[in-house]
Amino acid sequence: MFLKTMWQEILFPFRKNLVTLICFEVFYRAAGILVVFPFARFLFTLSLRWQGRTHITNRMLADYLQSPVTLGLLAGLLVVAACYVVGELIFLGVILEHGRREERIGFVDLLRIGIRRIPGGLKRHHIRIVSLAALFFFAVEILHISPIAGTLALPPYVAEQIADIFILRLVVIFFLAGIIILFLGTAHHLPALVRPGGGNTAKRTAARYGGRRQLVMAFEFLALNISLNIVFYALFTLIVLLVAFFVHIFLGAAFILGIVLATIHGVYFLLSLLASMILLPLNYALVESWKERFFRFGDVVMPPAETRAKERRPLRPLMKAGLAFLAAAFLVGNFFTVRDILTEERSAVDYFNRPRIIAHRGASMDAPENTLVAIEEAIRQRTDYVEYDVRLTKDGEAVLMHDATLSRTTNAPSGTRVSDLTLAEIRSLDAGSWFDEAFAEEQVPTLEEAILHARGRTRQFIELKVADPRLEAEVLRLFAEHDLYDEARVLSFDIEQLRRIKQADEDIETVYLVGLFFGSITPIVEDEAIDHVAVEMNTLRENPHWVERLKRNDKEVHVWTVNDRDLMREAVRLEVDGIITDLPLVAREIAYEKNTPTFFAEVLRLLFGQ
Ligand code: G3P
Ligand code: CA
Repeated sequence: MFLKTMWQEILFPFRKNLVTLICFEVFYRAAGILVVFPFARFLFTLSLRWQGRTHITNRMLADYLQSPVTLGLLAGLLVVAACYVVGELIFLGVILEHGRREERIGFVDLLRIGIRRIPGGLKRHHIRIVSLAALFFFAVEILHISPIAGTLALPPYVAEQIADIFILRLVVIFFLAGIIILFLGTAHHLPALVRPGGGNTAKRTAARYGGRRQLVMAFEFLALNISLNIVFYALFTLIVLLVAFFVHIFLGAAFILGIVLATIHGVYFLLSLLASMILLPLNYALVESWKERFFRFGDVVMPPAETRAKERRPLRPLMKAGLAFLAAAFLVGNFFTVRDILTEERSAVDYFNRPRIIAHRGASMDAPENTLVAIEEAIRQRTDYVEYDVRLTKDGEAVLMHDATLSRTTNAPSGTRVSDLTLAEIRSLDAGSWFDEAFAEEQVPTLEEAILHARGRTRQFIELKVADPRLEAEVLRLFAEHDLYDEARVLSFDIEQLRRIKQADEDIETVYLVGLFFGSITPIVEDEAIDHVAVEMNTLRENPHWVERLKRNDKEVHVWTVNDRDLMREAVRLEVDGIITDLPLVAREIAYEKNTPTFFAEVLRLLFGQ
């Protein structure tokens, strides 16, 4: 009975103005994404710059959070976010006051009224309205513990600390419960505060607040949000299962887990956007219905006819120009931030922050290494890069081959070196049967063939295995001729070779390979000929601080060759930029699972794991 009344009360006022509500929510969310979010990021960048940092890692988080600069900017950001919520509540209030009287309101009228009310509401009630809106927002967020519907999430490092320390857990639980109790005790003021002339009514309402009502309110608030959680989770599971079903049909079982875990990000993002468009209106309609049912003050629900007519008048040209100027200033101001977000390798959006997956010697567990079929398989497995090794033949042609000798990966007689045979002779070899008879037709490809095969389909890590000027000249030619600058990088264990290449063409990105290492990393950090570094996994585990040092100097840190799940997880935790692996599908799965709830990842693994 309770629940039926509750749902009727929530849904009834939206019936007449559903299209206006949808238009508004899409518009407001887009404004939030295009303006508020980049602005928040701008403040974040500013806080880093003022503290002389370029980024933050787990280890710096505590220092960063304690800085007065961070605290000041965080407070500013909270106020901006709360004002954003106030704006939304004012607009929703307009829709609801019309809906309750079964009157229609168009989108343009809604904008006019809302835009007129926002400055007034903030001016009249400033701290009260901002803090009550913030309470409302946090109370709703607290109940959306599933990451699908929640907009806010604690950084994993902070969450881990809270989970580990009992006292901290208690403090957090009391704090969250306090927010909900405070919200339930004050939420009914909101409908009065978001409307012109409602301030006095809000004060009168306080006297009528009673214990039993609060229990009903608490029950309804929990019931609404728990059922929304269930609906969103069910929808999410359904979409994920559908994706798994289609991947199974079109690509095969081996791809399911990796692709499903990757898809979860996109689905999360879209569903959380959808959820935020649904959660706040429904919760606010509930708050307004409390006002109607438990604290009857009709005068607050709809302002007098005269005020309403005034509010609907077109905005004055000066106001329009002011708003247009403000919007343009925000957009121009945010342009560079948005560009950075879209172009940088490590995104500001944590969902997209994951190491790149680099298929080692092609997808070398599924096809003979360093062949076109291994590169093709890597592309099929959707790796971010494919890595392969290059050597020179007797007649100076660049071909793909890891070892100096040919016998491990071709049918050449034992001990035959790549440099002993001409290209024509090497081409006559069988480079696939050693791996599986099904690949008997595979030949040793030239560097140019490999480049053209992968070009535009995946990016390339080209490792030079010999320090021969002819090989370097060929690389320089291929980069210039095929314009590979944005999609390929040159790797070498030989720092002098990288310096020569950089000197010849500074646009080629170089990656210095580090295996065993003794001494100081500083010369590498400071070497301008080295754009990025790829470190052997054990060496990086011995020196985890390198990640921060290299990144601070704008150098990416990749790690090789990681084929073990636990080590892959460790690489993800170390926040490397790339994992070079023979098992790209597994690495992809691990890289994406960091944004998937452990329980959900386990269920997926149980269902689809190999
Ligand atoms: O990319 C780095 C890695 O490939 C180096 O090892 O011996 O497999 O070429 P290796
Ligand atoms: Ca290699």
